[in-house]
Amino acid sequence: MTVKLIDPFQRSIDYLRVSVTDRCDFRCTYCMSEDMTFLPKKDLLTLEELDRLCSTFVRLGVEKLRITGGEPLVRRDIMTFFKAMGRHLEAGTLKELTLTTNGSQLHRFADELYSYGVRRVNVSLDTLDADKFKSITRWGKLESTLRGIDAAQKAGIRVKLNAVALKGFNESEMLDITKWCAERDMDLTWIEVMPMGDLGNEDRLDQYWSLKDLRRELAQHYTMTELAERTGGPARYVRLEETGQKIGFITPLTHNFCESCNRVRLTCTGELYMCLGQEDMADLITPLRASESDTLVEEAIHQAIGRKPKGHDFDYSRQIVGGQMSRHMSHTGG
Ligand code: GTP
Ligand code: 5AD
Ligand code: SF4
Repeated sequence: MTVKLIDPFQRSIDYLRVSVTDRCDFRCTYCMSEDMTFLPKKDLLTLEELDRLCSTFVRLGVEKLRITGGEPLVRRDIMTFFKAMGRHLEAGTLKELTLTTNGSQLHRFADELYSYGVRRVNVSLDTLDADKFKSITRWGKLESTLRGIDAAQKAGIRVKLNAVALKGFNESEMLDITKWCAERDMDLTWIEVMPMGDLGNEDRLDQYWSLKDLRRELAQHYTMTELAERTGGPARYVRLEETGQKIGFITPLTHNFCESCNRVRLTCTGELYMCLGQEDMADLITPLRASESDTLVEEAIHQAIGRKPKGHDFDYSRQIVGGQMSRHMSHTGG
């Protein structure tokens, strides 16, 4: 019998986030530096290895797979991998296959993603102003992301927008973005900027916009009802009574949600991170490549889950960025 994944704090691990590439066609200023060096392609797990690893996790009880990056849709032949994961949906062993994307390539893949069972996608979009979009992504085109969102909706995939809350950047657009999403029947999640990756060029305290303030501002315009439901992710949700839409808040810094953490992250190089905000990781590539059977990998996964920490160390409260991570979100998969 397979032993499911339970960590030392009795949290059941049923959500795996998988970064399939560290590359991206954008360079969002809070995520990457302009001259970001990417990993040599030979260091990446092959699509077959990704399939083997993810299938092992599904066997061990993972029910939700979120494919991330970097930008997952820039990885060559990535549809082969989605197709392979779609098998587990058909078999009923996987409940949800989804991805987080910047949307730039989504128009090319929306129909195919739907055919493999993807029913929900989170699109990162921080502004609706084309010039500001270009400046935050360093060269991205707003219209490419908008086109991707349209294509996904037409294909029958539900779109949720992820916006990183940035002081002095999208503060003034908060109501416009909310309204824009409501008009398109899209939910929206605001994310506090996290101290990931050594970007060298800016002080993230300057960009930090507390979601407590954002909520207070939103409450002046809408009637908000707190919702108990969760999507298996870290967001807490409210419903705006006037529009019916759901607004999520991901607040790792002001409201730590680690006590109900149900997830681990697999990097594109085969490392398993037990927490987004901790350096500890387990190497899965060595046991994977050591044998054709998956026994060694299963053991390595169990051992790793056995040391999942209680929580992360991010802290802006003392006006210092405690727990600054040198690791990039694009490598770990956000
Ligand atoms: P849903 O399935 O829609 O709930 O998605 P999700 O919120 O789990 O995934 P998404 O990829 O949209 O993540 C949104 C943001 O939440 C990203 O910036 C992630 O880095 C962040 N996030 C996800 N999981 C964690 C976590 O365990 N800890 C922290 N601190 N942040 C997380
Ligand atoms: N802090 C908060 N969110 C971030 N993202 C990328 N880097 C950071 C950061 N430093 C977000 C993206 C995307 C999600 C996967 O992670 O905007 O929505
Ligand atoms: Fe790419 Fe997303 Fe990072 Fe922007 S936040 S550079 S879209 S991975």
